[in-house]
Amino acid sequence: MRKNSPILVLVLFMTLCLCADARQKKEYDSDVIYDESKLPAYTLPNPLETAEGRIIDTPEEWHNLRRPQILSLFANLVYGTIPVPSSPLRTSVKVEEEDTEFMDGKATRRKVWIRLRNEQGRADMRIVVWTPKASTDPVPAIMHLSFDDNQSDRLDRSDSHPDRLNNGVPIGEFLDRGYAYISVYHADLVSHNEVEFNRGIHPLFFDEGQSFPKAHEWGVLSACGWTAMRALDHIETDDRIDSDRVFLMGHSKLGKATLWAVAQDQRFAGAISAQSGCGGAALWRRRSGETLEKISRFPHWLCVNSRKFINQEDDLPLDQHMLLALIAPRPVYVASAVDDTWADPRGEYLSAYYASPVYRLLGKEGLTSEETPPVSEPVYETDVGYHIRPGGHSVDLYDWERFLDFADFHLKR
Ligand code: GCU
Repeated sequence: MRKNSPILVLVLFMTLCLCADARQKKEYDSDVIYDESKLPAYTLPNPLETAEGRIIDTPEEWHNLRRPQILSLFANLVYGTIPVPSSPLRTSVKVEEEDTEFMDGKATRRKVWIRLRNEQGRADMRIVVWTPKASTDPVPAIMHLSFDDNQSDRLDRSDSHPDRLNNGVPIGEFLDRGYAYISVYHADLVSHNEVEFNRGIHPLFFDEGQSFPKAHEWGVLSACGWTAMRALDHIETDDRIDSDRVFLMGHSKLGKATLWAVAQDQRFAGAISAQSGCGGAALWRRRSGETLEKISRFPHWLCVNSRKFINQEDDLPLDQHMLLALIAPRPVYVASAVDDTWADPRGEYLSAYYASPVYRLLGKEGLTSEETPPVSEPVYETDVGYHIRPGGHSVDLYDWERFLDFADFHLKR
């Protein structure tokens, strides 16, 4: 008995820790609203009305007047602006490795280092690019802003599903359907939950004496999205890929970064966000599931200015339907899952629905029903696409196949 007591003490200690953790989580979550009948009443800002009350009814006014206003609001109040570095950034690229026999010769896999440098310092990012060998013409591509470190074996072919990567991405289907697949690691240039900003990409953009982003300057999500833009710079030089037909896709945190990146960078042909939730497709004003207050436990995902609106979401001169509208006329796809209530599936759908008038103004097809489509009945033959499937917070084979259907419809016509 005496001999066992250190083990017993350890077990007791761990049980107490787990209980404390569960209690903390419960307290943290106790005020989260999941019940539709308990949501606050709200009025969404009209994406087609300027700050001065002018109604926008031509594509020219949208592009020249309203779109720049909305872009600036999101930059200054939500995600943070990207400053101009005081010394110019230079980029160098090195192909680290090329495997021309990937998947028994179906594809070429290229690992590429991209180095960004200026007088303030340097930062490196790495992308992995698979291109199908069957095509002689430049192919469309899906760029995946991914949680998977592309230096790990997560991007090797899987043993159990040889047509997939170890992270579940159905690479075989990408290649068979004629797509290149580009994997970009979200944390190459900024850490997942950066709070100090003394390494990575931010220091290259600091002015003399500056050591922290200003209240309106970019946080983590914006820097993740910027990483994808730099990957696209490189893809533009790769003649195996048609860089005018690249969709950016991201899940969860990276679904948020994806929407913001594609909103800003019009070289992307469209965006696919999977369960992007709060700070992504979901509407702030619903305060359902994760809210601005809750997401602030990652204090710098958004810019510091965003904190002014915690529990004052109605004061925001924007909501997330306007982020989707910034992507118009390019296609945008929003994916939800029934049990992923933290990401507010209903709010994700409504956002796509309320972005649709902007698509229509630009001669594109949006969503026409305020009702969320039935589970597993994807809507993808429109410029604003959507699906909700059973299950929780993940990217499943079902999701990837719908994303490719959406891409087939828009990128191959
Ligand atoms: C947390 C966070 C979400 C985020 C998610 C993820 O749950 O609260 O906002 O989307 O992590 O990135 O998986």
